[in-house]
Amino acid sequence: MNVFTNVKDLGNLNVAIKEALEIKQNRFAYQHLGKNKTLLMVFFNSSLRTRLSTQKAAMNLGMNTMVLDVNQGAWRLETERGVIMDGDKSEHLLEAVPVMGSYCDIIGVRSFAHFENKADDYGEKILNQFIQYSGRPVFSMEGATTHPLQAFADLITIEEYKTKARPKVVMSWAPHPKVLPQAVPNSFADFMNEADVEFVITHPEGYELDEQFVRGAKIEYNQAKAFEGADFIYAKNWSAFRDPHYGQILSKDRDWTVDTIKMGLTNHAKFMHCLPVRRNMIVTDDVIESPDSIVIQEAANREISCEVVLKRMLETLK
Ligand code: CP
Repeated sequence: MNVFTNVKDLGNLNVAIKEALEIKQNRFAYQHLGKNKTLLMVFFNSSLRTRLSTQKAAMNLGMNTMVLDVNQGAWRLETERGVIMDGDKSEHLLEAVPVMGSYCDIIGVRSFAHFENKADDYGEKILNQFIQYSGRPVFSMEGATTHPLQAFADLITIEEYKTKARPKVVMSWAPHPKVLPQAVPNSFADFMNEADVEFVITHPEGYELDEQFVRGAKIEYNQAKAFEGADFIYAKNWSAFRDPHYGQILSKDRDWTVDTIKMGLTNHAKFMHCLPVRRNMIVTDDVIESPDSIVIQEAANREISCEVVLKRMLETLK
């Protein structure tokens, strides 16, 4: 594996899940693969889970790790070609990326959407420059449009907690005070559409996601109706995708907050969220603290999803 940005990069999903569950049983079995290999993690944005779980996965595999927080202590980077660099940006990404590549064997990149230009965001301008110019295998630690390590961990978690062969999985929009990207819901849809689940998306009108990820999945604008019989509720906020409202908040309606009454409509559904989560905006205290909440287990599986990806990249290096 040379690139990991979406579900297709994993190949056969059942094989990937099986590999993940095996690695979880013995996460130090492949230490030899990472000996004398270095992972560079490049963060353009903040992180708790991705930072720690990726580092842990690399250590499980015997790798050395380096972390660069681009906005803390590094030169400010210009990303546009052709710009006269007479401002506050001291270095161009076109030099910085191959230099970073010269110090490591694999690179993980986190670079969120800027919401200034939809074409730039959905073209994954920054991530693709790493893929093109680093000379190393590159994986997304959440790009402008996808968060595949999260969605893979979500799928592993659903596999572990499902009580029927084909569970009903509902991804529900929920309110949030700030503008959030579409990367997590895009990737969750991307993965659920390939998984053996009944997948339903519920959101207020105007929050339709990019069809390249939705791919004809059922959209139910009535949240209560969507929740009926669900086995998993995956809550998430996202900003509007469609023009002319790209990157805007269209609603903060707390009627969409996931609460015990709505969870009561489900088939004793497990509650999921990628974290970090705004309590009593996205989900009530009662629901996230209930025995049916599996948000911690879900976050823990980030170590496993990343270990599968790193293992496959290390195998490609050999
Ligand atoms: N879910 C997730 O990616 O968390 P962080 O933003 O803390 O890494």
